[in-house]
Amino acid sequence: MNRREFMATTSAAAAALAVPGAALADVPFPYNYDMSPPLAVGQRDAYIAWMVENRGENPAFLAQHYARYEVLVANRDVLDDRNKRAFLLTPREEFVLERNLSRAYEHAFLDIGYGVTISGPHLVGRMTTSIDVQMGEKVLEIGTGSGYQSAYLSNLTNQVWTIEIIAPIAERTRGVYDGLIARGYNEYLAISSKNADGYYGWEEFAPFDKIIVTCGIDHVPPPLLQQLKVGGIMVIPVGPPGAHHVLKIIKEQAPDGTIRVSRSDIYDGRIVPFVPFTKLEGDQIVGVHAE
Ligand SMILES: C[S@@+](CC[C@H](N)C(=O)[O-])C[C@H]1O[C@@H](n2cnc3c(N)ncnc32)[C@H](O)[C@@H]1O
Repeated sequence: MNRREFMATTSAAAAALAVPGAALADVPFPYNYDMSPPLAVGQRDAYIAWMVENRGENPAFLAQHYARYEVLVANRDVLDDRNKRAFLLTPREEFVLERNLSRAYEHAFLDIGYGVTISGPHLVGRMTTSIDVQMGEKVLEIGTGSGYQSAYLSNLTNQVWTIEIIAPIAERTRGVYDGLIARGYNEYLAISSKNADGYYGWEEFAPFDKIIVTCGIDHVPPPLLQQLKVGGIMVIPVGPPGAHHVLKIIKEQAPDGTIRVSRSDIYDGRIVPFVPFTKLEGDQIVGVHAE
């Protein structure tokens, strides 16, 4: 069953939700940063009705989306209204593989091919909330993967850059964004993407207000720290393979002009495994960046 057939099947399930206008069509209204579905919990039917009317999305997925949202809020993974809105407006089902469509809103990370994964929704919510993105800020993501993380970010700011090291994934995800933009998801016009080794950042557009790294490494890459603005925040999984701590790093300048870096663990010491921060030599991925 392909994505469209699956959507048609779930449309039948949608009928049971008695929400008029179940649609597979394009986004009916142009996106703007002021539009928002209801954010308070306990408003599932109002959320679904708003999303069907304004975004043309499938009510069966919207029900799953909202159920996951309520758990994210209860778990304090998303705290502020801007992140709540970003989570509610990002259709995760568009970024998973077809074979995982029925699992799009599960807690877990999911396979996206080439040995890598789309991070779980709780992790994405918590990491993004921790960097407190404001409208207009420049945000760099290392590890585009499925594209879901940057899609979420594009609901918070109109300037997002993302780098993916695996060429076929970078190309596939660019295609996902372009397809969604053609369907009216204009917020994804904010995303610039490229295939490269993200260890070296994206000098041309630096400095960045915020940097989010979605692959694990044993140290903070000096070029990324250098490309972070003073006062900027980076979130990055740091530690040995499979045993990362998700660190929030703030780059500060002391009165005497020296640069200081403060670190805190957004999971209070809990280990979170990530796919490795790999290294490009020529056009070959060769091992990992290690200190
Ligand atoms: C957990 S996965 C993807 C998560 C992604 N943000 C998402 O929403 O699907 C991490 C990604 O980092 C990529 N990656 C690993 N090392 C990299 C590097 N040096 N530069 C850029 N991307 C890298 C992997 O190929 C993988 O796609």
